[in-house]
Amino acid sequence: MAHVTTAPARAIVALDVPSVADAVALVVRLGAACNFVKVGSELFTAAGPAVIDAVRRGANDGVRDVFLDLKLHDIPNTVRAAARCSAALGARLLSVHATGGRTMIEAAVEGAGERCSVLVVTVLTSLDATTLGEVWGRPVRDVSAEVLRLSDVARHAGARGVVCSGSEAAAVRARHGAALEILVPGVRLAGGATHDQKRVVTPAMAASAGATYIVVGRTVTGAQDPRAAMDEVVVELGKGAERRKEGKEG
Ligand code: C5P
Repeated sequence: MAHVTTAPARAIVALDVPSVADAVALVVRLGAACNFVKVGSELFTAAGPAVIDAVRRGANDGVRDVFLDLKLHDIPNTVRAAARCSAALGARLLSVHATGGRTMIEAAVEGAGERCSVLVVTVLTSLDATTLGEVWGRPVRDVSAEVLRLSDVARHAGARGVVCSGSEAAAVRARHGAALEILVPGVRLAGGATHDQKRVVTPAMAASAGATYIVVGRTVTGAQDPRAAMDEVVVELGKGAERRKEGKEG
């Protein structure tokens, strides 16, 4: 297995708001700990591509990294072009679906170039074995096994990493070592509300399982004191990195 980094995972804040002004206000409110943000399809389609530059530089208080979470899934030629445009807009990470196939992922990697990394969504956590069986036309018993299989597709296509749930992160890390980055959404501070998420993990759990990035949304943005919650997330990620160094998981 390749050497696995024990650097703390980075927290990416989901900007699930409907306008550029709301997005910029949120990053400014969260302060310096918020140095990586996620622009999803809602904000991107509501506000347009200019939102990327706006949140990168929000109120001239520094430059943040942007994860453009468009979960692309189309023919390779279209995805290559969209990835090229995403990189040109300044996105640092871009998501595509594994089920678009190896050639599509290769096209995304080619389009994204050196400055933008492609992360591959394995199985959406909103899908269970029954739903997957329906759309794939074969029985699916173990969703985790499908996640691992699709992580192989992502790696062989040259993607930088995968998106998977916290419950699969350790298995993906064990299989691929440092060859793939891992992004884990569905993260909650201990004791906080889980909202509509089912399989949630804490930042420390995700980090000790080997996550490279975690996505935090409402656990920070919906907190009474979002800046304090953000700081707590960063402290937890540090603890997770320590646990990982000591060889403990979870
Ligand atoms: O639930 P929360 O507010 O933390 O969601 C943060 C972001 O992560 C949202 O943009 C959501 O769409 C995304 N996401 C997720 N769970 C997944 C995949 C994506 O919460 N399994």
